[in-house]
Amino acid sequence: MTVPLIDPFQRAISYLRVSVTDRCDFRCVYCMSENMTFLPKKELLTLEELDRMCTTFIGMGVEKLRITGGEPLVRRGIMSFFQAMTRHLDSGALKELTLTTNGSQLEKYAADLFAAGVRRINVSLDTLDEEKFAQVTRWGRLAQVLRGIDAAQAVGLRVKLNAVALKGFNESELFTLTEWCAARDCDLTWIEVMPMGDLGNEDRLDQYWSLKDLRARLRERYTVTDIALRTGGPARYVRLEETGQKIGFITPLTHNFCESCNRVRLTCTGELYMCLGQEDMADLRGPLRASAENDVLENAIRAAIALKPKGHDFDYSRQRADGQMTRHMSHTGG
Ligand code: GTP
Ligand code: 5AD
Ligand code: SF4
Repeated sequence: MTVPLIDPFQRAISYLRVSVTDRCDFRCVYCMSENMTFLPKKELLTLEELDRMCTTFIGMGVEKLRITGGEPLVRRGIMSFFQAMTRHLDSGALKELTLTTNGSQLEKYAADLFAAGVRRINVSLDTLDEEKFAQVTRWGRLAQVLRGIDAAQAVGLRVKLNAVALKGFNESELFTLTEWCAARDCDLTWIEVMPMGDLGNEDRLDQYWSLKDLRARLRERYTVTDIALRTGGPARYVRLEETGQKIGFITPLTHNFCESCNRVRLTCTGELYMCLGQEDMADLRGPLRASAENDVLENAIRAAIALKPKGHDFDYSRQRADGQMTRHMSHTGG
């Protein structure tokens, strides 16, 4: 038995988010700029290297693996990586294999994902209005994503929608989205917009819609009860008594959840980011390639976890986007 991964604040690290590509077929306004420069393919970890990385983390106590991007399903050959991870679900070492996706490729891959052992997926969807969808994703088509969600549910995948709460954008859709999810038996999680990326002429303060406010609006129509449900991520859930559905809230701004952080994120080039809201990172590609034995890599992972920061410094209370990260969200996959 190896010693579990514990950070300096006594948090056990059991959740690895793996960004398998920095590319995406959308350009969501809060995630990427319109003209992104992507990494040359030769910089990427190969699928075999990604497998070795994940397998090493699983050997060190990681029980939940979330594949992210960019858009994870645009990485060529990614299904063989999911299929390779099935062995860790079969052995019982891995409790959950999942992904966060924009949904554009789900029609093609839903059945293969289910066959690989994925049971629950998170799909990013901020609006049900075709034009607004085109506006927020710049390049996306709503109908394609909706067909993807249909395909996922048809093969038995549980779907949770992730909606970034955006003032004056999807505020008017609070009840439409809620009702749509109830009718479709989808879960729904709202996320406060974080100051990531080159904000340029975008103003996060103008976009920011606090979930405290959103929750109060929900109460105008529903009886909202806090529930103890945890899905391993930062969301805290409520149940709407009238419909029985679960709604999640991810509140980096109004209610910091860093104290219970259990995760780190690996990028497609093998950098390990210890916190979404800090610059701290460690290169694991060098240690991985340095030796066919895992000792060097394991030591590098332990050394990185020993440097995990306490939390992010995102803060809009001074009427500016404090704690901003210049890194785009697509670099680490959120
Ligand atoms: P579940 O397994 O359903 O709990 O998913 P999850 O919330 O862990 O993953 P998902 O990819 O759906 O993430 C939803 C949002 O939470 C994204 O916008 C992430 O950027 C954000 N998020 C995840 N982890 C952290 C974190 O440690 N800090 C902050 N500030 N945001 C996070
Ligand atoms: N703030 C909050 N959430 C964001 N996401 C992307 N960029 C941001 C941001 N700046 C969300 C996506 C996706 C998840 C991985 O991160 O909508 O659901
Ligand atoms: Fe692509 Fe997701 Fe970023 Fe949108 S939020 S640009 S879908 S990676």
